[in-house]
Amino acid sequence: TLKFNAISNRGTVTGGAGFIGSHTVVELLEAGHHVTVIDDCSNTAPPARVGGIPPSLERVQQIVGPLMAKRLKFVLGDVTDPQDLDFAFGLKKKHAVIHFAGLKAVGESKEKPLSYYRVNQGGSVALLEAMERANCTNIIFSSSATVYQPAKTIDDLPLSEDSPTGGTTNPYARSKLHVEEILADACVANSNLSVVNLRYFNPVGAHESGLIGEDPRGIPNNLMPYVSQVAIGRRPHLNVFGSDYQTHDGTGMRDYIHVVDLAKGHLAAMRRFNSHTKSRGFESYNLGTGQGTSVLELVKAFREASGKEIPTVFTERRAGDVAWLWCAPNKALKDLDWKATRDISDMCRDMWRFQFRSMNPSGYVTDNSEERE
Ligand code: WQD
Repeated sequence: TLKFNAISNRGTVTGGAGFIGSHTVVELLEAGHHVTVIDDCSNTAPPARVGGIPPSLERVQQIVGPLMAKRLKFVLGDVTDPQDLDFAFGLKKKHAVIHFAGLKAVGESKEKPLSYYRVNQGGSVALLEAMERANCTNIIFSSSATVYQPAKTIDDLPLSEDSPTGGTTNPYARSKLHVEEILADACVANSNLSVVNLRYFNPVGAHESGLIGEDPRGIPNNLMPYVSQVAIGRRPHLNVFGSDYQTHDGTGMRDYIHVVDLAKGHLAAMRRFNSHTKSRGFESYNLGTGQGTSVLELVKAFREASGKEIPTVFTERRAGDVAWLWCAPNKALKDLDWKATRDISDMCRDMWRFQFRSMNPSGYVTDNSEERE
């Protein structure tokens, strides 16, 4: 277990008001950490009042309870702005940074590549420079399995951390790979810098309380939130993008990982920042279950979890989609003593509880009720 000193560790979490960030903040607080979140709230509801905290973090405080809630600080700020970053670092000496803040929609990145490069690369460079000023040398980076070269045959799976990267087909994926390279270069220039680079496969689901979860603005790009909105009656049917892939049922296969397992993976990654040993430099870890699940298998699991019908319509493949994507998560088990424990039915059950609660009048109103069709 992580050894805490009396005041425990203090961390800065960029983008901590978002889907994966908020779930990670729950785990950090429950493990005894003090956390400062900096988030511009461009992809989640902002604080209701000046000086307040975003609704997603209010619900994090509800989950962890009043004692741990006091250990959470929030800065409404821009990760590309050195002053905002210095303010977030200035509150107290930080042991480590977890960097989630960034733009993450594949399709949008093709329309706005400069925004993606300015925020994802520019924000990461600004953050590294702020860390230097604050003498903070530990960072966990939120990377993505899309940095890997698309598998040509099913024999290329599962992907390990040494699988070839590059050949990616969109600015979002390119920005993630480039930030990895920036971090690796920064480690070469500064032997005290430690980077744990986490490559997420497909994060889905929600906290078991049903208070926080994936609640995209407008029409969901990703499968799980779309299926969930069909189940609750917000969408008429699911379009299945392609049924002619070389898989057992013709639909695309992915390594879906429960967002709470993913959040716990960040806590486990903190173990690599042991101040008593020399920095290990730049290290990458796949965070996935090692299990491939097809679109139709996920739809079936969601039907069972929700008890709702999920009408499906088969359409053309989506441009840029790969047939298969799943990992071998052995390295994270060996080095971080971490493995995913929740299966696809847990993911569907927890997503459904969150969806139902956020749409149900007796629950709370969802943050992103406005619709951008
Ligand atoms: C999963 C499967 C689709 C929607 C993306 C990003 C990746 C990461 C996770 C940020 C595929 C099929 C989907 C729908 C469908 N995001 N699908 N109908 O594309 O694997 O990964 O999200 O880090 O970077 O690329 O996830 O959920 O969009 O798709 O049939 O309405 O579901 O074809 O096979 P993807 P996804």
